[in-house]
Amino acid sequence: MNKIRDYYSTVVNNTLIDNNIYLLEMFLPGFNGMAEPGQFVMIKVNETYDPFLRRPYSILECSKEKMKFLIKIVGKGSKMIAHKKMNDKFNILGPLGVGFRVNSNRYPVLVAGGMGIAPLWFLAKRLNSQKKKFSIIYGERSASPLGDKIKKTFKKKVLLVTDDGSRGLKSTATGALSAFLDNITYKKIVLFSCGPPGMLKEITNFGIKRKIPVSISLEERMGCGIGVCLGCSVKRKNTDGFLTVCKDGPVFRAEEVSI
Ligand SMILES: Cc1cc2nc3c(=O)[nH]c(=O)nc-3n(C[C@H](O)[C@H](O)[C@H](O)COP(=O)(O)OP(=O)(O)OC[C@H]3O[C@@H](n4cnc5c(N)ncnc54)[C@H](O)[C@@H]3O)c2cc1C
Ligand code: FES
Repeated sequence: MNKIRDYYSTVVNNTLIDNNIYLLEMFLPGFNGMAEPGQFVMIKVNETYDPFLRRPYSILECSKEKMKFLIKIVGKGSKMIAHKKMNDKFNILGPLGVGFRVNSNRYPVLVAGGMGIAPLWFLAKRLNSQKKKFSIIYGERSASPLGDKIKKTFKKKVLLVTDDGSRGLKSTATGALSAFLDNITYKKIVLFSCGPPGMLKEITNFGIKRKIPVSISLEERMGCGIGVCLGCSVKRKNTDGFLTVCKDGPVFRAEEVSI
């Protein structure tokens, strides 16, 4: 069972892997190693409550008493987390939320844009460990060490595309998807996606048009991370009411939410 706990955790490794992006490895005493791809944690930035709110991060990889995260510096909280040193300690609440549900009859195509790779990396690792076949389309603005790391890790399963053509095809991830699907033999596909809102919208519309099921992982600003403050609410699709990204998601079937 995935047990939600607040783990007093220790940094065991922190490496700069790209401009402003760190690979942070944490030791979580008592963590049983169980989490689903797409789940996330709330990281308490420091003990002084400045910044006050915890910050949400996707689980990149996990094992017994270990978790890894990709941390991109975008503001005060992420900068403080990214600059943690070996043996620094802070609290990690998790694993939280609903992750990806994999339909084993269909061929999974994982479509990621930029930092949207984090939850899909975990999904790809899980599919690899289950010896399942899948593909990743990874789109970024231009060639980057992160793109190289994804290619090195998942090898031929990855199609790299860049907006400026500096690595792989010159295309957006969504642009590459259509041609990619036309050239594979699998007829039953399922799409899993995470990335900028514009990209998720395009993937959703693509899935509707082609009658392909799509699951998307959403990123919203979060307060509590456990469904209490309603700060991360998103509108339901085709019906009244809201869903919370932290408790009902962050992964949703595309037909569930209005984006
Ligand atoms: C479920 C989930 C999983 C996430 N996984 C990762 C991950 O694996 N790696 C990673 O680097 N980031 C991830 N994020 C985004 C990360 O939580 C934010 O970058 C972080 O909270 C920013 O904190 P800050 O104090 O540095 O930025 P702030 O100073 O609070 O804001 C700086 C800028 O970042 C934007 N921002 C802040 N929070 C978010 C957010 N939640 N989503 C989108 N934009 C935001 C603000 O609008 C602002 O423009 C995830 C977010 C969610 C909701
Ligand atoms: S962050 Fe509080 S309800 Fe989602």
